[in-house]
Amino acid sequence: MKTTVKPWALLALLLLLASTCVQAADEDEQTYGAGRRRRRRSRRRSTAGAPPNIMVPITFLNSSVEKGAVCMDGTPAAYHLDPGSGAGNSSWIINLEGGGWCNNARTCKFRTRSRHGSSDFMERQIAFTGIMSANSADNPDFYNWNRVKIRYCDSASFAGDTFDKGTGLYFRGQRIWEEAVQHLLSIGMASAGQVLLAGCSAGGLAAILHCDQFGAFFAGRNTTVKCLADAGLFLDVVDISGGRSLRSYYADIVYMQGVAKNLPPTCTDHLDATSCFFPQNIIDGIKTPIFLLNSAYDVWQIEESLAPNKADPSGAWRACKFNRSACNASQIKFLQDFREQMVASVKSFSGSKSNGLFINSCFSHCQSELPATWNGSPAIQNKGIAKSVGDWYFGRAEVKAIDCPYPCDNTCRHII
Ligand SMILES: *[C@@H]1O[C@H](CO)[C@@H](O)[C@H](O)[C@H]1NC(C)=O
Ligand SMILES: *[C@@H]1O[C@H](CO)[C@@H](O)[C@H](O)[C@H]1NC(C)=O
Ligand SMILES: *[C@@H]1O[C@H](CO)[C@@H](O)[C@H](O)[C@H]1NC(C)=O
Ligand SMILES: *[C@@H]1O[C@H](CO)[C@@H](O)[C@H](O)[C@H]1NC(C)=O
Ligand SMILES: *[C@@H]1O[C@H](CO)[C@@H](O)[C@H](O)[C@H]1NC(C)=O
Repeated sequence: MKTTVKPWALLALLLLLASTCVQAADEDEQTYGAGRRRRRRSRRRSTAGAPPNIMVPITFLNSSVEKGAVCMDGTPAAYHLDPGSGAGNSSWIINLEGGGWCNNARTCKFRTRSRHGSSDFMERQIAFTGIMSANSADNPDFYNWNRVKIRYCDSASFAGDTFDKGTGLYFRGQRIWEEAVQHLLSIGMASAGQVLLAGCSAGGLAAILHCDQFGAFFAGRNTTVKCLADAGLFLDVVDISGGRSLRSYYADIVYMQGVAKNLPPTCTDHLDATSCFFPQNIIDGIKTPIFLLNSAYDVWQIEESLAPNKADPSGAWRACKFNRSACNASQIKFLQDFREQMVASVKSFSGSKSNGLFINSCFSHCQSELPATWNGSPAIQNKGIAKSVGDWYFGRAEVKAIDCPYPCDNTCRHII
C-alpha cells in the first residue's frame, strides 16, 4: 500500500486537528485563564490502506432563526450529516460538538469572533473520525449509521436560554438543541430504530444534561435510545489552592446564560442550579441508559479545574500540569485523590445494569473521536473503547470498566 501523503489527507488532518476537543481546551484558556503554553501533539494516524476521511458538508438551520435558535451573535445554528446506509439506514448518532464555555461579557464576546460563537466562522465541511467515521475498520459498530454533528456556538453546553441586553448576545443553546432534534426527526430520525446521543468535553456534559430530554423525543416510538458522554464528567472538586475554581466558573455560566430552567428537574428539585450543572449530581437520576467514557486523569480538568493559573500564582504546578513526568510525589498524590473522587462519583451509577462505564488511567481528554484512541490502543483488560461502547450499546456484554491507578496502564496514549 502507498504511504505517500496526499493533499486531501493533509487537509483532513489539519481540519481534524483544528476541530478536536483538546484544541478547544487550548482556546478555553483564552476565556478561562491566562496565556498558557500551547501544546501541539503529533497524532498522526496510520492511514495506510484506509479510505480517505469523508468531508461532511454543513447545513444551516435557517428556518430555526425565527424560533430564536441562534448562535451567540444571532447567526443560524448548524449541523453536519453523513447519511447512513444499508443496515444502518434507520440508526442515528447525534454528536454534540464541544469546545469550552464562556462566563462573562468579555470572554463571550471574544467567542463571537470564532466558530464557538458564530456560524459565520464555522468550517463549511469537517472530517468525521473515530465514532463518527464512515470506515468500518475504524468504526465497526456505527460506521453505516446516519451520523450527525450539531455545531456548538452557544457556550453553555446547549443548555442556556436568554438574551443579554448589555452585550446584545444570544444564549440560546437549549433552543438550538430542541430545534436541531426536531429538524432531524422531520428528515427521518422519527422512524429510527436505534439512536445514540454523544458528545465530548462541553459536548459530553451536554449529552449528560440532555440525555433524558433526548429520550423524551422518542417516547411512544419503538426506538432504542442511549447516550454516551466522553470527557464530560467534570467534577466539583477542591483545587490546589483550597478553592473551587470550576464551581465558581460554572456558577457564572449558569447565571449569565439562563441555564437553571433547562437542567434536569430530578436534580434541581433538591439542589441549587450550579450543583446541577455538575454530572456527579445528575447521573444517578438519568433514566435513559448512558455510558460514561472518561480519563481519571482528565487533562482539561487537571489544567483548568485542579491547577488553573489563578490557583497557582507561584507557578508551582506549571511543569506538572503540562507534563506528568514533571510531577513530584505530592502532586501525584493530589492527582490520585482526584481519581478516587471520580471513581466515587460513579459508584451508585455503576450499579445500574443499563449504564456503561470506561474510566481509564490515561492523561487525556476526549477519546471517542480520535481514531487512535477510539479503535486503538487504550484498553482496560484488553478491551478497547470502540468495542466497549459497542458491547454496551448492543447489549453484547455489560461494561463497567475502571482502570487501575496511574501508571499501571501501558496501553495509554498520554497527551501530557
Ligand atoms: C442560510 O444561512 C446562511 C448563513 O447565514 C447563508 O449563508 C445561506 O445562504 C442561507 N441559506 C438559505 C437557503 O437561505
Ligand atoms: C434500509 O435498509 C433496509 C435493509 O436493511 C431496506 O429494506 C430499506 O429499503 C432501506 N431504507 C432506505 C430508506 O434506504
Ligand atoms: C420494535 O422494534 C424491534 C426491533 O428493533 C422489533 O423486533 C419489534 O417487533 C418492534 N415492535 C413494534 C411494536 O413495532
Ligand atoms: C512538590 O511540589 C510542590 C509544588 O512545587 C511543592 O510545594 C512540594 O513541596 C513538593 N513536594 C515534594 C514531596 O517534593
Ligand atoms: C517532562 O518532565 C521530565 C522530568 O522533569 C523531563 O525529563 C522531560 O524533558 C519533560 N518533557 C517535556 C516535553 O518537557
